[in-house]
Amino acid sequence: MSDDQGGTPDSPRLRDYVAWHDAYGDPTSSLSARLRQVQTQISAWLDRTPGPVRVLSSCAGQGHDILGVLEQRVEDRTRVTGALVERDPTNAAVARDWIARLGVGFTVVEADAGTTSAYVGLVPADLVLLSGIMGNISAADIERLVHTSRQFCAPNATVLWTRGAQDPDLGPDIRRWFADAGFAEVACDEWIEGTGMRVGVERLATRPEPLRPGEPIFTFYR
Ligand SMILES: C[S@@+](CC[C@H](N)C(=O)[O-])C[C@H]1O[C@@H](n2cnc3c(N)ncnc32)[C@H](O)[C@@H]1O
Repeated sequence: MSDDQGGTPDSPRLRDYVAWHDAYGDPTSSLSARLRQVQTQISAWLDRTPGPVRVLSSCAGQGHDILGVLEQRVEDRTRVTGALVERDPTNAAVARDWIARLGVGFTVVEADAGTTSAYVGLVPADLVLLSGIMGNISAADIERLVHTSRQFCAPNATVLWTRGAQDPDLGPDIRRWFADAGFAEVACDEWIEGTGMRVGVERLATRPEPLRPGEPIFTFYR
């Protein structure tokens, strides 16, 4: 299933987010290309961030990004801990099985990641993964998520985000919103492997904000 199917902000229609993961089984899919770049950026972050670190993945799906990296990086499995927030119980179960097989210190929380209440006890994190969210929520929700992500961050935390070049291409706006929120851009990989996929990496260059439970952030429209 490609990333441009489903509803619109004015006409929401949610996709089958278990079947959505089938594209990862096809190495030629654009989602596989995106995943490879996300994993490359996670590995680069691990290389430059020594010691114990905590990871938070919002709308984590089956956890292919961080768990896929830890599948390969056996030496990092004890120092990397964290939480995956995912609403779909089947995807959550797949992630839990993978975590158990790897023996890593991750928890999967089945919750609505679109409210700050879901993150109580899971933050602050040193790496915040926002992969596969910004193509499925409104521009206003993206801007709110960017600003709210400061509530998820430990000092100097890194936030990784994705958003394809689909119309409207909000990439330049997203990069500006991160700058407005006090982040410094580390990377913005575009047209990954010839696809419209984009992966951004941002470092928090200002102080984090304390988590304020009860604030709405976003709603998926597709
Ligand atoms: C496009 S997929 C991305 C999955 C994963 N982050 C990745 O990049 O492989 C979006 C995921 O968000 C989940 N999701 C959608 N709305 C959510 C919400 N409000 N709270 C938590 N998870 C949600 C879906 O079930 C799906 O697994």
